[in-house]
Amino acid sequence: MKLKLILAAAVATAIAAPALADGKALYLEKTCVACHGKEAKKPLMPEYPKLAGQNAKYAENQMKDIKSGARANGNTAAMKGVMHLVSDEEIKEIAQYLSEIK
Ligand code: HEC
Repeated sequence: MKLKLILAAAVATAIAAPALADGKALYLEKTCVACHGKEAKKPLMPEYPKLAGQNAKYAENQMKDIKSGARANGNTAAMKGVMHLVSDEEIKEIAQYLSEIK
């Protein structure tokens, strides 16, 4: 009985926070961290953007635009090269993670 309760709690926790965990893992796996830095706060170059706390929908749109080439200004060429690594669904999860960084 007790074990069942613990299991139920563990499952509930896993269901409650998937976006954050996945987005963070993707941010680290898909090389984003190399340019945008730890917790998206310390970019590699001074003219690269800090992403922590950014509006999720805005970040999602910018990533899709950089991936498709609709946004091709400033230093976007640096980032476009890795965008084949992420799907639209993964972009959405990463955007959610970025918006939740305090
Ligand atoms: C090779 C370096 C590099 C990598 C790797 C990279 N980015 Fe970027 N990213 C940039 C640069 C540079 C810009 C700003 C482009 C410009 O000057 O307009 C940018 C812009 C962005 C923006 C838009 C910011 C805004 O305020 O409009 C988001 C969101 C973003 N990156 C997320 C990511 C994510 C998520 C990943 C991993 C999938 C990633 N980037 C990988 C260099 C990189």
